[in-house]
Amino acid sequence: MIEISDITKLYKNENVEFLALKNVSFKINDGEFVAIMGPSGSGKSTLMHILGALDTPTSGRYLLDGQDVALLTEDELADIRKNKIGFVFQSFNLLPRASVIRNVYLPLVYSGVSKEERVRIAEEKLSATGLPETHFHHLSNQLSGGQMQRVAIARALINNPSLILADEPTGNLDTKTGDLILETFKKLNDAGHTIVLITHEPEVARHAKRIIHIRDGSILKDEILR
Ligand SMILES: Nc1ncnc2c1ncn2[C@@H]1O[C@H](COP(=O)(O)OP(=O)(O)OP(=O)(O)O)[C@@H](O)[C@H]1O
Ligand SMILES: [Mg+2]
Repeated sequence: MIEISDITKLYKNENVEFLALKNVSFKINDGEFVAIMGPSGSGKSTLMHILGALDTPTSGRYLLDGQDVALLTEDELADIRKNKIGFVFQSFNLLPRASVIRNVYLPLVYSGVSKEERVRIAEEKLSATGLPETHFHHLSNQLSGGQMQRVAIARALINNPSLILADEPTGNLDTKTGDLILETFKKLNDAGHTIVLITHEPEVARHAKRIIHIRDGSILKDEILR
C-alpha cells in the first residue's frame, strides 16, 4: 500500500533550515497496524503529512498503491485524501456547535448523497466506534474527550478509507479512555483497514502489530510485535 524510498524533508524559512527527515524508507502492506514512535521533534507529524499527501518531500519517492504521489494532479490528490485516507488528529477538530451526526456526515454533503443516506452511513460509522446511540444527536461540544475522539474517528471513516492515519489520537485522553480508542483502532484493523498510528508513548505503540522507531528524522528500528 505504502512504499517510501529515501524520503527527506528540508524545512526552509527566511533564516532557518531544518532537515526534519533524513533518507527514510519503509513499506507498509495492506492490512497492517503500524505505530510510528519517536520523541517530540523526531519528525513524526512531518512524515504523517507526507504519507497523507498533505505535504511533499524534498526528495525521495512515495508510492501509494503503486502510484507515484509526486506525479498526481491536484484533483487526483484531493480524491485520494478524500476517499483513500482517513485522518484522525490529537485535537479532534470537530465543529462545536454542530451535532455529532452532522459532524460525521459533513464530508458527504457535497457528494450528492441524500440526507437520509448520509444519516444512515454516519450512524453506522458512529456505531463502529462504540459511541452510545444516546449521544448521536448531542452537540459535539457536549461530549467528553474520549467521545469527541470517537466522533472524529467516525468522521474519518465516512468515505470508507482503506488507510487511517492517526497523529497522537490518544494524546489528549487519560489512559483508560485512550485504551478504548486504541481498541477501536484494533477493531477497524480487524475489519481490514490499514492503520498508521503516530505516538511518542511506548504504551500506546504496543497496541500495534509493528513499531517503526524514529529519532532525529531517521528510522532507528523496525520492530514486528505480532
Ligand atoms: N514548518 C516548519 N518549519 C521549520 N521547521 C519545522 C516546521 N515544521 C516542523 N519543523 C521542525 O521539524 C522537526 C520535526 O517536527 P515534527 O512536527 O514532524 O515532529 P513530531 O515528531 O511530530 O513532534 P511532536 O511529538 O512534538 O508532535 C522539529 O524539529 C520541528 O521544529
Ligand atoms: Mg507531531
